[in-house]
Amino acid sequence: VKKFARRHAEGGRKPAQTAVIGAGIMGGGIAYTTALRGTPVRMKDIAQGALDLGMGEARRQLAKQVESGRLAQEKADKVLAAITPQTDDSGFGEVELAVEAVVENLGVKHEVMAALQQALRPGTVLASNTSSLRIDDIAAPLPRPEDVAGLHFFNPVPVMPLVEVVRGSRSSAEAVATATAYASGLGKTPIVVKDCPGFLVNRILTPYIIAFCDLVAEGADYEQVDRAMEAFGWPMGPAYLEDVVGMDTGSHVIDVISAGYPGRMRPPERNAIRALVAAKRLGQKSGGGFYDYD
Ligand code: CAA
Ligand code: NAD
Repeated sequence: VKKFARRHAEGGRKPAQTAVIGAGIMGGGIAYTTALRGTPVRMKDIAQGALDLGMGEARRQLAKQVESGRLAQEKADKVLAAITPQTDDSGFGEVELAVEAVVENLGVKHEVMAALQQALRPGTVLASNTSSLRIDDIAAPLPRPEDVAGLHFFNPVPVMPLVEVVRGSRSSAEAVATATAYASGLGKTPIVVKDCPGFLVNRILTPYIIAFCDLVAEGADYEQVDRAMEAFGWPMGPAYLEDVVGMDTGSHVIDVISAGYPGRMRPPERNAIRALVAAKRLGQKSGGGFYDYD
């Protein structure tokens, strides 16, 4: 995998200034991980509350590292200072790579990314962290589709090693190389994947989640399914995993991927995840999903 990543990173330079748009579960994690690796990052959200939560989580992770003796307080302070929370586009003209991590909705991504390309210089890589949408569909109406690629991180970002780098049909070789070099610079294992709904990992993961919804619809107890999958040896079962991912994101991913492979994948007939979205139980981020959280 390392050799593979090196081939695609050829000519790619680790960006010196970065931005993350959307400070939620993923954007917050990407900004923190970027700063931890020594690269300044502007973290933008429309909601001040999301920025506060993102900075709070970075502070909490850094305090844990300092407490365990793995990080000096001085270094932790530098990491925190490398993240600039903001609700506007200030400084975006100096950014060399920006990661879009707003909600999994094509219309919202079009709006956000088109506005971003007004603020970013031509040639600045604009990577989407989409879980399921094709990069070609995201890039099509944008002013500079050649600057767009996918950078699909996994949750929780600080600990999950894999990053899918998605090459759209119009992504320039430079954009793919820079995105790969950035992921490598974060200590991740980047793999370049084809542009299709769900890319590689979520094409495998989604049928598993659909099968889980079918089991629940047939009367299985989701807690017992979780215990079984843990005993099977997986780090967490599907109900807890969806609580970590977020039910709104999980629901969109099922819809996009099942629509992308008609005849091969189908959405669950009785969809427990969609029912939880309707009940506003979005998972850990809203205090409750399948399970309750403080
Ligand atoms: N942020 C930072 N560090 C974290 C963390 C977080 N949110 N969660 C856990 N960690 C760290 C812990 O601090 C701990 O670090 P040390 O060993 O250095 O102390 C380490 O990770 C292990 O944590 P724990 O012992 O508490 O817990 P664990 O053994 O269960 O491991 C895990 C945690 C690695 C997250 C593991 O539970 C796991 O692999 N879970 C599966 C996660 C997964 O499948 N993610 C993919 C979701 S799908 C997706 O992302 C794609 C999409 O498009 C929706
Ligand atoms: P989230 O709901 O936690 O956060 C989304 C953030 O985007 C919110 O803070 C919201 O205020 C912000 N936002 C919305 N519109 C905005 C705008 N116009 N400008 C700036 N910020 C805006 O979502 P998330 O889980 O972090 O997911 C973000 C993206 O990452 C989605 O595309 C999702 O599919 C993808 N993803 C999610 C996971 C996961 O496990 N949650 C894993 C991999 C990829």
